[in-house]
Amino acid sequence: MHKRTFIQAAVAATMLSTGGLALAQDNVFKIGLILPMTGQQASTGRQIEAAARLYMAQNGDTVAGKKVQLILKDDGSVPANTRRLAQELAVNDKVNVLAGMGITPSALAVAPIATQSKTPLVVMAAATSSITEASPFIVRTSFTLPQASVGLADWAPKNGIKTVVTLVSDYGPGLDAEKYFKDRFLFNGGKVVESLRVPLMSPDFAPFLQKVRDLKPDALFVFVPSGAGAAVMKQFGERGMDKAGIKLIGTGDVTDDDQLNDMGDVALGVVTSHHYSTFHPSPANKKFVAEFQKANKNLRPNFMAVGGYDGMRVIYEALKKTGGKGGGEALLGAMKGQIFESPRGPIFIDAQTRDVVQNIYLRKVEKKDGQLWNVEFDVIKDVKDPGKTK
Ligand code: DHB
Repeated sequence: MHKRTFIQAAVAATMLSTGGLALAQDNVFKIGLILPMTGQQASTGRQIEAAARLYMAQNGDTVAGKKVQLILKDDGSVPANTRRLAQELAVNDKVNVLAGMGITPSALAVAPIATQSKTPLVVMAAATSSITEASPFIVRTSFTLPQASVGLADWAPKNGIKTVVTLVSDYGPGLDAEKYFKDRFLFNGGKVVESLRVPLMSPDFAPFLQKVRDLKPDALFVFVPSGAGAAVMKQFGERGMDKAGIKLIGTGDVTDDDQLNDMGDVALGVVTSHHYSTFHPSPANKKFVAEFQKANKNLRPNFMAVGGYDGMRVIYEALKKTGGKGGGEALLGAMKGQIFESPRGPIFIDAQTRDVVQNIYLRKVEKKDGQLWNVEFDVIKDVKDPGKTK
C-alpha cells in the first residue's frame, strides 16, 4: 500500500519534470471573457455570462479533444481595467481567445493587445461601426448602430413622422446612431430639428426631455446603451410627452428586453428597429429562450445574451475546424465566413469585414398575455454594416 503510493508519486513527479503538465495545458482551450459584471453596464455582463454558460451546457466543454475553460473577468466597464485584464489574460494565462467587451471604449482599449498577441477578440456587445477596423483580429457577433438605425429612418417618414429630435449617449455608438439615422432620414425628406447628446456615465435625461417637449417634434429618436432605456421611458412618461403627441422611436436598445416588461404602459406602441427580440417567433429562438429562462430564474434573454451565445458558437466551430492547431491566426481564419441560424435569425460573419451581417426587424411594443414584448412586423434582410468604408 505504502509502496504503491510512493510509485504513484514518483510517476507523477516524472510526468511533471518531463512536460506532463505542459501536455495537460495543451489540452486546455482558454477563453478570456471580459465583461462588466458590476457598475452601470452590469446587466450586459449578466446576460452575456448566462448565455455563454448556457451554450457550454448545451454543447459540452470538450471540443476537438480539448477542455474548454471560460475565464471570466469583471472590468466594471472601465476601459483601463479591460486593457489590463486583457493583457494579463493574453500574457500570463495565454488564453486562446479574448471575448466579451460590454462597451465600445473597452473594445477599443483591447484591440492593440489582440493585434500584438495575435489573439482573436470576439466582440459580443460593443456596437460602434469602426471597432472591427481597430484590429484585424476582431470578429463581431453583436451588431452595429448604423445597421440598426437606417431601417427606422426609412420607416418613419412613411408613417407620418416628418420632424425628429435625436437624443443619443455621447460616445461612439450614439454618434453612429445619430449620423446614420439623420443622413437617411434627411435623404427621405424628413427634418431633424435638433440633435441632443447626453453623457454616458450617470446621465440625467430630464433637461434634455424638457427641451424636446418644447420643440414638439413628431418623434424623438433615442439611442442609449442597454440598461438605460427604462430611465428614458419613465421620464418620457412622467413629462406626458406621449400625451403631448410626441412619438418615441429608436434602436431596440431603448426597449431592451432585459427591462421592457417593467417599463409599464408608456412603452406600448413604441417602434424600434433591431436585430433581436426575445419574441422572435422562430423554433430556434423559442428553444433558446426556454432553456435560457430555465437556467436563469426566468430572466429574459436580451440582444446582449444573443451576442454572447453566438460568439461562443463562432469560437466552438472555429476550434472544431482547426482542431486547435495553428494558433490565433488559424482560429481567426475559421471564424471568418461562418454562416448559421442564430436565435435572432440567419447570420453571417463577413470574411472581409469580420463583422456580422443579419436581418434587422421593425418591432412595436405590444402587450400579450399581460407581458410587454417587442413584436416584429417587418424585416430588412441580410443588412451589412452601412458604416464600413471598405
Ligand atoms: C454599446 C453598448 C450598449 O449597451 C449598446 O446597447 C449598444 C452599444 C457600445 O458601447 O458599443
